Amino acid sequence: MSPQPHAGDRRETFQAPKGTHDVLPPASGRWERLIASFAETVGRAGYGLVQQPMFEDVGVFLRMGEGTDVVTKELYDFDDRDKRRLALRPEGTASVVRAYVQHRPQVVPWKVWYATPVFRHERPQAGRYRQHHQLGVEAIGSADPDLDVEAMSLLGDWYRSLGLRQVRLVVNSMGTPADRVAYAARLTEFLRAHADELAEVDREKVETHPLRVLDSKSPQTQAAIEGAPTMLDTLSPDSVAHFDRVQAGLRAVGLDHEVDTRLVRGLDYYTHTLFEFRSDALEAAQNTIGGGGRYDGLVESLGGPPTPGVGFGSGIERVLLTCDAEGVFGGGAAPLDVFVVDVSTERTSALDLTTELRRAGLRADRAFDGRSMKSQMKSADRSGARWVAIVGDDEVAAGTVGLRDLRGETGQRAVGRASLVDEIRSATADDTHTGGPHGA
Ligand code: HAM
Repeated sequence: MSPQPHAGDRRETFQAPKGTHDVLPPASGRWERLIASFAETVGRAGYGLVQQPMFEDVGVFLRMGEGTDVVTKELYDFDDRDKRRLALRPEGTASVVRAYVQHRPQVVPWKVWYATPVFRHERPQAGRYRQHHQLGVEAIGSADPDLDVEAMSLLGDWYRSLGLRQVRLVVNSMGTPADRVAYAARLTEFLRAHADELAEVDREKVETHPLRVLDSKSPQTQAAIEGAPTMLDTLSPDSVAHFDRVQAGLRAVGLDHEVDTRLVRGLDYYTHTLFEFRSDALEAAQNTIGGGGRYDGLVESLGGPPTPGVGFGSGIERVLLTCDAEGVFGGGAAPLDVFVVDVSTERTSALDLTTELRRAGLRADRAFDGRSMKSQMKSADRSGARWVAIVGDDEVAAGTVGLRDLRGETGQRAVGRASLVDEIRSATADDTHTGGPHGA
């Protein structure tokens, strides 16, 4: 939305740009936990974090497929002040591959993960943003079908660990680039013969992007392509063997999947395995919560030696929408342990006591601006802290703190300041054993 100038002395105000959104506490606490659980899942499989520029030379992204919407219609590209043509990243994979070619890591496969904003100038709607955020992995340097299975099972296991149950894995194979060319030719032939039956938007794609007709949302097109040849009919024997091995691997690790020969994805670099996880709890238009596949030609197209690769990306917003729809992975940030209320004359205790508690590893906060006892207690309540530690002149003189359990029935009791941390720790540990408020 464009800035709204105001009359008189009022300053103009701004909104986040269309298709973007702010993630603020306490909701952002859920993001923290989500990213941490992803890092834990993929870290266990040997993936290390990559942190990369948000923009690249536009050429990095053009290699992804100059016929795809992501590149031709949705790219945020611009000339910088040095007149270099740059673009905000419309996905994570191409940048990771650029970094691989630039640094040539010697580990095989090179396994990395990322949490990144992604920019696409799309038509915003529920679950579709112009800046969304992806968690993803890339494994570069091995053509082993087990690595395809590893990517899918890591993502599937992560979804399960969040509590998601209504998620389906759909797979297909694009074969080698040569298989794909052969298939595109066969498909184009079919589509030309049925052009009159296709929806108008799809008719335009027949010559430029025949494979994209396959995932048309139009029922008219879907009816027209009922008898279209499938990719699987055109796969070379080696590609069939790769796909068979992937499916056997999925069965071996107990990951249910369905083969959808119509599955194509919005990026052109895929070879062999292609996959999506779809949620039955979301609207069909936005129900893909994660997807990926193999891209055995991408390293080469970005100037590296022929090198295979496989990975996936999963949209944080979509995953959280799915969690909401399934009623799992709720809650915001972890609550505070203790809130310090300082009503002493000098008002110096809040600073040193809070610092002490934090250094001891507790989550502690306080009020500022010398507020009244009532107002500080209100802040303590709002903070969600389990404990409040009250310091007045009497407590300062006695070297004690008034400790009150904000969730319990018991009133305030005096605790020696030196033993405050231990008191809080042992009470919290009791909760853990009895499944109390902090004990989940
Ligand atoms: P992608 O399918 O374009 O793949 O995006 C991955 C995921 O990002 C989608 O499954 C969806 O959850 C989310 N997503 C995509 N666009 C939006 C949007 N506009 N708003 C909200 N969420 C969105 C890739 O980006 C590939 N780089 C994945 C990959 C990695 N393939 C191999 N390695």
